[in-house]
Amino acid sequence: MQSKELREKFIKFYESKGHAFLPSSSLVPKEDPTVLFTTAGMQPLIPYLLGQKHPKGKRLVNLQKCLRTGDIEEVGDNRHLTFFEMMGVWSLGDYFKIDSIRWTYDFLTSPDYLGLDPRRLFVTVYRGSDKAERDIEAVNTWKEVFGESGIEADSGVEFDWSNPDDSAKYLYRITQRSGKDNWWGLPYKGPCGPCSEVYYLLDSNNVDLEKNFEGKSLQEIEVFIENQVVEIWNNVFMQFEGVKDENDEPLEIIPMISKNIDTGVGYERLLTVLNNKKSPYETDLFTPILEVVDKYSR
Ligand code: ALA
Repeated sequence: MQSKELREKFIKFYESKGHAFLPSSSLVPKEDPTVLFTTAGMQPLIPYLLGQKHPKGKRLVNLQKCLRTGDIEEVGDNRHLTFFEMMGVWSLGDYFKIDSIRWTYDFLTSPDYLGLDPRRLFVTVYRGSDKAERDIEAVNTWKEVFGESGIEADSGVEFDWSNPDDSAKYLYRITQRSGKDNWWGLPYKGPCGPCSEVYYLLDSNNVDLEKNFEGKSLQEIEVFIENQVVEIWNNVFMQFEGVKDENDEPLEIIPMISKNIDTGVGYERLLTVLNNKKSPYETDLFTPILEVVDKYSR
């Protein structure tokens, strides 16, 4: 699939669900003194997530140009980029978790749209803390949608990648993780909430998920995850305003007037996965540039 087609399908799907298309804001934010560059799709939308009325309505779809350096050490691997476009789907005080999860699944797996094999999709949800509850609604909704495809979705145990004493027998279809991975917020006070990520298993040919994990240490499992499974989608159920503590768990959170959906989808990653490529550099977003570089560097 060409990059243009992915862009068009994404916009078309969410327009069919009542979302208005919003062009990308500038990469250099005009009115936000907290960042030099736009680092997430939600940044230009913060006033609207906090309750201001958006001129285009309560449902929006966009592809926001972003620049991130927080994970610059990872750039050069098969999935991290500094500049990228974040595909965004927004509910500003309109629909919430159930529709967000259902439409994510439909767009990814429907033959009319991306047609990804649901057996290769794995998801994570927030496992809760003393400040915010475990996201049972997300667990149950994922169970339902996978169930409709005939996949029994095991939600396993609480599993915390950041805890070296934790262990897992195999990769659960639904993993319940700590705030480090599944509580999304800014480094300062702002809109935040539990999130649910979707991972795609890259090469299912040689992978027997149960056997692969049996008797393996957490470190070995992490290596497997890093190599074989790639995060493609993140739905944030943004319903609080607050900060995070030193463990990235929610702190001093108060419910916002409206419940919002903030979705961040890796455009380049999704394109990579859809084309069975090894990295974004092998997609049509990069190959024409690399061909020119190659030609003139000989
Ligand atoms: N705001 C979320 C992110 O940047 C979607 O991952």
